[in-house]
Amino acid sequence: MTGYVVDENTSGPWSSTTPEVDPDVSPSSTTPLHIAVVELDATVRSRLSMQLGSGVFDYEDFDSFTAQLGSTPTVVVIGPSYADPQWLGSVAGVLLPRPEVGAVLVAEELSTEIFQQAIRSGVKDVLAAPVDTAQLQEACRRVAESVVVHGRTVGGLDGLGEDEDAEGGRVITVFSTKGGAGKSVVAVNLAVALAMRTDETVALVDCDLQFGDVAVMLKLAPQHTVVDAVNSIDRLDPGFLQNLLVNHPPSGLKVMPAPLEPAYADQITADHVRRIVKGLRGVAKFIVVDTPSYFDDKVLTLIEDSDEILLVAGMDIPNIKNVKIGLQTMRMLDTPTSKIHLVLNRANTKVKLDVGEVERTLQVKADTQLPSDIVVPQSINKSTPVVLDAPRSSIAKALEGLADRYIPVAGRKRR
Ligand SMILES: Nc1ncnc2c1ncn2[C@@H]1O[C@H](COP(=O)(O)OP(=O)(O)OP(=O)(O)O)[C@@H](O)[C@H]1O
Ligand SMILES: [Mg+2]
Repeated sequence: MTGYVVDENTSGPWSSTTPEVDPDVSPSSTTPLHIAVVELDATVRSRLSMQLGSGVFDYEDFDSFTAQLGSTPTVVVIGPSYADPQWLGSVAGVLLPRPEVGAVLVAEELSTEIFQQAIRSGVKDVLAAPVDTAQLQEACRRVAESVVVHGRTVGGLDGLGEDEDAEGGRVITVFSTKGGAGKSVVAVNLAVALAMRTDETVALVDCDLQFGDVAVMLKLAPQHTVVDAVNSIDRLDPGFLQNLLVNHPPSGLKVMPAPLEPAYADQITADHVRRIVKGLRGVAKFIVVDTPSYFDDKVLTLIEDSDEILLVAGMDIPNIKNVKIGLQTMRMLDTPTSKIHLVLNRANTKVKLDVGEVERTLQVKADTQLPSDIVVPQSINKSTPVVLDAPRSSIAKALEGLADRYIPVAGRKRR
């Protein structure tokens, strides 16, 4: 699944890219349909998966996808890496004998040659990249109608993308099991970049309740904090929550800062955090949450309730050791792997550890790599997020790229 390298020596939900398949299951109109994404490029793969919502199985190559294929009807989105005649030839060997697998190809260049080769290889629909979320979901729904098991169609994907709308905004929690890894830098800049790039409301909640520094990083003098939300926990309707959020004028981001005094943190329970985040789903399209660097009941609740977890790791052995423990803990908690995304911070640092080594140790592919850049501490000392302070820097561009993964191309605003 997302970003995970298969380890043949381990078992359990994190070690396998394989959806549970029962070969004896008899197909009916209620046969569950799997949605899969196959793409070599981790960033593109992750974006396509996010566009399809939760519960998508993703694979970093076609072999691992085919290795798990059983009789479960599947709609597979094949990414641009496979859109060349040679690859499509091998795709044909998988698709043509399997009417229970319907494929959509996303291609960078939609030439007649690619189109014809794709259709000859058994692909049902071809879309040009970058693909719009609505367009991709519609193509998957159409292809699902054509999937056949034992001579019968199995029905469509009517619910695709609906869970997101039903739940409201998307919750993205930025976490690390190592202090100083860069959680707040990632959370603040991701939230600001999202706010600048959409017309939708974006909220940032500082759940580092004792030592949160989101307000300082954004030069805010908070009129309200999370403590005010807790004090009115039984009336967190959208209007009330909107009034509690502190505006960040340069970006339009809405912020719920941490308590002004560390002592208040003790009064805040996991249930409070759950209800606040749930309430904010009704107010904002994206809710980015900054966290402390340890597991407590509040962080565990956030991990459970979030749609995405950005796990931040630095490039040194203590970081990698702690992040590995963090991953193991989340595995024990049955956190779906598809919602965990590794963000390697200071990934260009020459510290005798390379990205490949870190990925192998963690058994996880990095979804995002952020370079180390002096402009980061410089911007922090100006209380201006680096995406605003040094927008041309490579770190700002990488952070904007991270934000863009959540925004369909059509909804993206130009700065
Ligand atoms: N990519 C980067 N390049 C250079 N400096 C960085 C980078 N990312 C983070 N830093 C620096 O590392 C320090 C710690 O970053 P940050 O406060 O985001 O970490 P944190 O994980 O939130 O820490 P804490 O656990 O204390 O909350 C900051 O002073 C920041 O300037
Ligand atoms: Mg922090």
